[in-house]
Amino acid sequence: MAKLLSLLIMFILFIFFFFFFTPTLSCPPECQKQALLQFASLANFTDDELKSWNSSSDGCLFPFVKCSSSNVVEIHLGAPSHWRRPWRVPTSTVLTPLFHIRTLTYLDLFFNEIQGELPRDGFANLSKLEYLDFSGNNFNGSLPSQLFQLRFLQILDLSGNSFHGNIPPEIGNMTKLSYLYFSGNNFFGEIPTSIVSLKELKTLDLSFNSLSLEIPIDFGNLSNIDDLDLSSNNLTGIIPSSIQKLPKLDKLNLVNNLLTGEFPSWSSGLAGKIPDWISTHKTLVHLDLSENQLEGMFPQGLAEMNFEYINLSDNRLTGSLPPQLFGFNLLVLSLSRNNFYGKLPSNISNATRLVALMLDGNNFSGKLPKFISNINLCLLDLSNNNFSSNTLPDFSSNVNLRIIDLSSNEFSDEISTNFSQTTSFLSLGKNKFSSFPRNLTHMSNLKYLGIHDNKITGELSNSICQISTLQILILRNNSLQGSIPDCIFNLTSLQILDLSINHLVGKIPTNLGNLTGMIETPGEIFSNLIW
Ligand SMILES: *[C@@H]1O[C@H](CO)[C@@H](O)[C@H](O)[C@H]1NC(C)=O
Ligand SMILES: *[C@@H]1O[C@H](CO)[C@@H](O)[C@H](O)[C@H]1NC(C)=O
Ligand SMILES: *[C@@H]1O[C@H](CO)[C@@H](O)[C@H](O)[C@H]1NC(C)=O
Ligand SMILES: *[C@@H]1O[C@H](CO)[C@@H](O)[C@H](O)[C@H]1NC(C)=O
Ligand SMILES: *[C@@H]1O[C@H](CO)[C@@H](O)[C@H](O)[C@H]1NC(C)=O
Ligand SMILES: *[C@@H]1O[C@H](CO)[C@@H](O)[C@H](O)[C@H]1NC(C)=O
Ligand SMILES: *[C@@H]1O[C@H](CO)[C@@H](O)[C@H](O)[C@H]1NC(C)=O
Ligand SMILES: *[C@@H]1O[C@H](CO)[C@@H](O)[C@H](O)[C@H]1NC(C)=O
Ligand SMILES: *[C@@H]1O[C@H](CO)[C@@H](O)[C@H](O)[C@H]1NC(C)=O
Ligand SMILES: *[C@@H]1O[C@H](CO)[C@@H](O)[C@H](O)[C@H]1NC(C)=O
Ligand SMILES: *[C@@H]1O[C@H](CO)[C@@H](O)[C@H](O)[C@H]1NC(C)=O
Ligand SMILES: *[C@@H]1O[C@H](CO)[C@@H](O)[C@H](O)[C@H]1NC(C)=O
Repeated sequence: MAKLLSLLIMFILFIFFFFFFTPTLSCPPECQKQALLQFASLANFTDDELKSWNSSSDGCLFPFVKCSSSNVVEIHLGAPSHWRRPWRVPTSTVLTPLFHIRTLTYLDLFFNEIQGELPRDGFANLSKLEYLDFSGNNFNGSLPSQLFQLRFLQILDLSGNSFHGNIPPEIGNMTKLSYLYFSGNNFFGEIPTSIVSLKELKTLDLSFNSLSLEIPIDFGNLSNIDDLDLSSNNLTGIIPSSIQKLPKLDKLNLVNNLLTGEFPSWSSGLAGKIPDWISTHKTLVHLDLSENQLEGMFPQGLAEMNFEYINLSDNRLTGSLPPQLFGFNLLVLSLSRNNFYGKLPSNISNATRLVALMLDGNNFSGKLPKFISNINLCLLDLSNNNFSSNTLPDFSSNVNLRIIDLSSNEFSDEISTNFSQTTSFLSLGKNKFSSFPRNLTHMSNLKYLGIHDNKITGELSNSICQISTLQILILRNNSLQGSIPDCIFNLTSLQILDLSINHLVGKIPTNLGNLTGMIETPGEIFSNLIW
């Protein structure tokens, strides 16, 4: 009897294991290896290391594969860490062999040029998946419903493909999701209300799609969210006030939608003040309200917060800058193209970590504070203001300063200042400078020098020829005299030279034909240098 009982127990155990461990049983390690080989053959990557995915070695020893108890659990084939341009563009059928590896928890195929629709059938097999990165491929079509059965998935990145269709309500079933990236696809329709049941969600990025209708009213239920990006969609209606309640939110980007309504008024096409409630979010460190029609002054409460990144560019904000704005944590301040005015607050030097200061296109005036040189800036854009000064501050200690744009201001007198050796873009055009900079020869990284539309007199010095990296030199519309130094054409990188509207005389140097090469416009040089 006892024997019979133990036999029965063994039988029950067998059934139990059969049903609960079928994933491994139905595709044991050898089968998993065959699946990997089939995948590699379909994908046909050029990568040398993938050549060692061959039948004579153990699948668990294949590069980019990780096993646990002899079962394949992780596949790390995301480029560009291992750039594996395929011999021919792989289609989404490369995925089919992988659906046999039911032990997979981690699948990274980021940036591999795979194209076509995701197989309808197969994802349900990968029920242990926790990490799935298909971003930066050319997948298209709608998402298979089986994808939404992956209830252990924590990270799902499908950004930068051509997926279209609706985001189905079943997404609310993936309750372990912490990071969801769908940006840069063609998803349309509404954001499903069920998304608010993703209680673990920390990052939600649905930017650059065609999502429409209103933001679900209960968005405030996403209590763990710290990064919310719904920008560049066609969302309408008001921004739900429940967003105000999100306790951990530190990045919020809603720009470039069709949002309307009275409160809060931070979306394109809207006039209004920066809503006061933002300053109740003490944890906010990143604020991007650019490209709206916000007006009024900079709220004092906001200035007292400890932002790292502030972008209020392209609004209609006015008033002077509150000194409290320049806190120690500030890294990026962009207030471009508003109506701010007044002097730069003297405590700007307290923002010692500031790397980018963009105040272009406002009505700031007065002298540049000397202490601007104490800041660890990479980018300084003060163009299109009314700054004036007889002596510019000494920039030579700003050893990270690569871009200086002081054009279209009221600066005058000599350019006797020192610039840092790292500076590659120096724009001083449309001012009232009267002499050519004396000390440029040590600027061994300078690519763009624009001092056009000033009042510079005297001869063009030979010393300009020592800036061998120079690509663009614009001295148009000054009062330069004398002849063009022959040596200027020893500048082998020079591609654009504009000396028009001056008083230059003499012959044009004979080796003018050497001005060839790839033309990078000032805009291109500038954007190549920014980040
Ligand atoms: C993979 O690409 C190489 C090089 O073009 C080619 O010789 C080989 O036949 C391809 N393999 C498959 C399975 O298509
Ligand atoms: C198979 O891969 C192993 C390394 O994993 C390598 O040593 C061996 O040469 C490869 N065999 C063939 C036939 O390419
Ligand atoms: C799911 O896995 C089983 C067992 O490995 C396999 O027989 C089946 O073909 C897989 N389904 C798909 C769609 O690949
Ligand atoms: C997806 O892309 C493939 C290959 O470019 C194309 O043949 C197919 O029609 C596309 N499918 C959809 C739904 O756009
Ligand atoms: C999945 O989501 C749908 C739609 O939200 C719902 O009807 C269904 O009950 C959910 N399934 C499970 C297993 O939770
Ligand atoms: C957004 O809406 C506008 C106006 O209704 C429409 O012209 C545009 O095509 C829509 N854009 C997208 C990406 O759906
Ligand atoms: C959001 O939370 C509130 C309060 O807990 C609850 O009543 C509501 O049903 C939740 N909304 C959704 C869509 O889960
Ligand atoms: C600020 O926002 C504008 C418009 O959205 C963008 O073009 C610019 O690059 C941003 N500036 C910084 C420093 O991020
Ligand atoms: C600037 O920093 C100094 C020293 O850290 C501090 O004493 C001063 O109050 C700060 N100034 C302002 C205006 O915040
Ligand atoms: C030129 O600039 C360098 C570096 O900033 C500096 O060391 C040098 O003293 C300057 N020379 C003159 C004449 O100002
Ligand atoms: C151009 O450079 C060469 C070699 O560096 C030098 O010999 C020559 O004199 C220079 N030409 C001019 C016009 O300065
Ligand atoms: C470029 O300049 C060098 C040295 O001045 C000269 O030998 C060469 O012929 C020039 N090339 C052209 C295309 O003018």
